Amino acid sequence: DISTHILDQRMRSPVYNASGVMCRETTELEAVRHSDAGALVSKSCTLEARDGNPEPRYAATPFGSINSMGLPNHGYRYYLDYAAHYDYTDKPLFISISGLSLADNLHMLDAFQRLKRPLLPEVNLSCPNVPGKPQLGYSFDDMATALTAIHAAMDIPFGVKLPPYFDISHFEMAAEIFNRFERLKFLTCINSIGNGLVVDTDSETVLIKPKNGLGGIGGDYVLPTALANVNTFYRLCPDKQIIGCGGIGAGEQVFQHILCGASAVQVGTRLWEEGAGLFTRLNQELVAIMQRKGYQCLADFRGKLCTL
Ligand code: DHB
Repeated sequence: DISTHILDQRMRSPVYNASGVMCRETTELEAVRHSDAGALVSKSCTLEARDGNPEPRYAATPFGSINSMGLPNHGYRYYLDYAAHYDYTDKPLFISISGLSLADNLHMLDAFQRLKRPLLPEVNLSCPNVPGKPQLGYSFDDMATALTAIHAAMDIPFGVKLPPYFDISHFEMAAEIFNRFERLKFLTCINSIGNGLVVDTDSETVLIKPKNGLGGIGGDYVLPTALANVNTFYRLCPDKQIIGCGGIGAGEQVFQHILCGASAVQVGTRLWEEGAGLFTRLNQELVAIMQRKGYQCLADFRGKLCTL
């Protein structure tokens, strides 16, 4: 049994898409819905539709990916309409919100909660790819201000998508902020490692056009950072649920994220490369690992990472 819960919502599998992959168009969202994913999350939306950054803006590498999409999306009304007509008895629907200002986020969150449907808002505090817009998750005072306003406005539970942190003092400062907010129920760790640079030796060029080639790094590169963030926030925020994201390409990494404390996991880079059949494979691989170890359910090992 690989079922799990986020809040009171059951997922048949802990695995689903990371926001940004297979979730911009309703056709893509429907493909994830009809797959073996346990949930789905929509592309981060803004108040108005955006074309995003110039192409090429995504590239695969042997160990992962680099992207600087720049929030291409249809505008929040498109995803609001999807959420209004969604069948919530099927699998949970997360809605990623990434306003260009606090006022935009408050406006969008209000519209979604007024639907009075059991959608799960994931407020994105970590988009690294909009020129001129810093990642809110790295400005602790601004993040606290934003969460105070969002929490006061929200009647329903919500979560946040976090950037990776790399310093113990930053983990502690961030966790102290999150623990102030009761209706902040889940933390999604991590977004891409922002502003990496991948170089092609032969052509001596960058791989993507925006920002002189800088972009968010995903895939194998980020697994240890993702696991560190999942496990550290699992320890520091015992009343929150953790959703793991980063470096999942096989059942083994799903297992590791859950062992570190994740209640569910998202897949970005590998889903982009492999398509929705990925979910079937990851579920099977996770089951095989659990059988080998004699585990019946995810609770048998969730958060039970051993230290020395
Ligand atoms: C984009 C990238 C992100 O990492 C994110 O959190 C939101 C948007 C993007 O470039 O579209």
